Order: sequence, then C-alpha cells, then structure tokens
Amino acid sequence: MLNVALPKGRLGNQVYDLLEKAGCECPGIREESRRLLFDSADGSIRCFWVKPSDVSVYVERGAADLGVCGKDILAENSPRIYELLDLGVGKCRMAAAAPKGFRDPADRPLRVGTSFPNIVREHYAAQGRDIDVIHLHGSVELAPLLGLSDVIVDIVETGSTLRANGLEVIDEILPISARLIANRASYQFKLKEIRDLTERLKAQVEKA
Ligand code: PRP
Repeated sequence: MLNVALPKGRLGNQVYDLLEKAGCECPGIREESRRLLFDSADGSIRCFWVKPSDVSVYVERGAADLGVCGKDILAENSPRIYELLDLGVGKCRMAAAAPKGFRDPADRPLRVGTSFPNIVREHYAAQGRDIDVIHLHGSVELAPLLGLSDVIVDIVETGSTLRANGLEVIDEILPISARLIANRASYQFKLKEIRDLTERLKAQVEKA
C-alpha cells in the first residue's frame, strides 16, 4: 500500500479528482468526519489530508510515500524528495510587485516583504541586488502600503489582490503548479507501485 499525503483545501480537491479518475477512489474522503485516513477500495493507496506546507515534511521523512505539493513550497524548502510529475493544477506564479510608479532606491538595500525568504534571497543574489528580507506569514500586500517594505514577493494567481491594493508586478520569478513528489527510499522499494500510479495520473493530466 502507498501512503499519499494530500494538501487540504481547493488544490487538494482538484488533486483528489485526478486520483479518482486514475482509478484510486477512496470512499469517505469527501465526507465531513473526524476520520483522518482513507483507503482506496482495492487497498492500493491510503490518502490523508495535511496542511499544504506539511506535505513535503511527511514525504521527506517517509511517513508518506507520495504527496502533492506546490512548486513554491519545494523551491522555498528544498526538501530531499523526488519530484515525479507536474499535475498541471494549482497554476499560479511567484512574482515581485510594487506600488505603481515604483523606482528602485539604488543607494540602499531593497526592503522585500515575503513569506518565501529563500526564494527571495536566491532571486536577488542572482541579480547582485542587496536586500533586506522582511519575513511575513500572510497579507504580504499590506507591507508596501504601510511603508514596511519597498516591494513584495508573493504568489499571484488572478492578480486581483495586487490590483485591489494599487500594486503591480515588476518581475516574474517562478511559474508554479502542483507536483507529485516521492520519498526517496519508497521510490526504490515501492518502485513498481509508484511508477504505476504516476503513469495513471499522467494519463489523466494529459487528458485534462
Ligand atoms: C494568496 C497570495 C496572494 C493571493 C493571490 O493569498 O498570498 O495574497 O492569494 O491571489 P490572486 O492573484 O488571485 O489575488 P491567500 O489568499 O492564500 O492568503 P494570505 O494572504 O494569508 O497568504
């Protein structure tokens, strides 16, 4: 049996749709209940919901053989896992944004508000730009409005949060989508089952 960690929320539901179409229905998983583990009817997989940012922790440590995780979390945390497949859902992008008319204050470090400090450091280091990272855990768009930061680096999906706050994208950093990831040891010891499920999911992704 393969243990599969799914991210709670809208993305997780889209991913579970793919799993179901791939023939891995887990009865009861969509029902409101206190149950946490859901086995497929044929006993080939066992699914469970976790916080999106915890998926890679379960997979890296082998509590889950497989998981589904956004590319943003993989790029930020660099977990020691294998990335097997782009599932083509949860598409958005990581971008830098600033108030309209923004000019880079070249005489001092750029203050960057973000929930993704590692991605930010790597991005600006590649540009040779000195920065001061301000690590926030949500509502990042507030930072430039209140003078806490000059710019932000955050996830942009529809762009409506930026528009509603008078901000605009100044730099595209990383395209994001959900990825199927595997524990490294599981990938050796359960190779056949993992490959089989990956192929079935891939067929659904290609159909979508
Ligand atoms: C995310 C992200 C942006 C917003 C982007 O926030 O951090 O704020 O969605 O989506 P949009 O381009 O479609 O407006 P989320 O709603 O997850 O909450 P958060 O601010 O607490 O991170």
